[in-house]
Amino acid sequence: MRLQVAAHENDFGASLTGIQLSDLNQEQVQSVREAWLQYQVIYFPQQPLSHEELQHFTSHFGSFGVEPYVKAMDGYQNILEVRRNPDEQIPPFGASWHSDWSFQASPPSATILHAKVVPPLGGDTHYADGIRAYETLDPSLRNEIEDMWAIHSARRPYSHEGFETTGGRGRSMTILPSDSAWETQAHPIVRTHPESGRKVLWVNPVYTIGIRDMADDEAELVLQKLFSHCLTDQFVYKHKWQKDMLIMWDNRSVQHCAQGGYDGHLRVMHRTTLAGDPPH
Ligand code: SIN
Repeated sequence: MRLQVAAHENDFGASLTGIQLSDLNQEQVQSVREAWLQYQVIYFPQQPLSHEELQHFTSHFGSFGVEPYVKAMDGYQNILEVRRNPDEQIPPFGASWHSDWSFQASPPSATILHAKVVPPLGGDTHYADGIRAYETLDPSLRNEIEDMWAIHSARRPYSHEGFETTGGRGRSMTILPSDSAWETQAHPIVRTHPESGRKVLWVNPVYTIGIRDMADDEAELVLQKLFSHCLTDQFVYKHKWQKDMLIMWDNRSVQHCAQGGYDGHLRVMHRTTLAGDPPH
């Protein structure tokens, strides 16, 4: 069998078949890497993987990212179980648009999500293309923000206060709120992708809380304009899951949002991240 790549019409997203992720050779690793960089969100149907195999697949592409604020799986410090029980009442984990851990000094380059239990309806994941968002931004707004830096923080979901107000206690996943979530990290609003050199509009509604050297109310207006542009339907791919499907996305240019719509049903995903570089 040979690797087959079926790219989406707009080149944002591609399905990859014809390879077995538990048993990749170096040439296949290179092809997967190239597809990930080219299409930003790549998915592989029918890939049953043990925990060890998921870790091994991840390690083909670099070292693991650092997972804060969520308890990892027992015995597997690099795997998070993204789980929602049938009787859970609060919105799913990751149900607002975000780039993973963008409040870190070096946020992950990739996130890998593997479907263990998929509900019979709902539970999609939506992805937004930050490269096209940058390229289509109104030129005057683009000039205005070109050299600005955004402030990122984990405080909304992961401070003790945020944990209480977002209903963290009602989650089946173990969230580990901390005072460290109040720390801030500045990143450029427009980052340059370190491998493709393409520019990316890189702000997200969960973790981007302000703009450096700008009053909060003014920053809020600019950020709201940017969020609504980034998240318009034309840049969004709505992914439907199947059991044993694995998806790998470029966290340096993509933001994502977990969807609900499956109350009364179990959904379980296993997630790893790859360490990234400081955005510039
Ligand atoms: C996440 O934000 O990493 C979770 C996405 C999902 O469960 O669909």
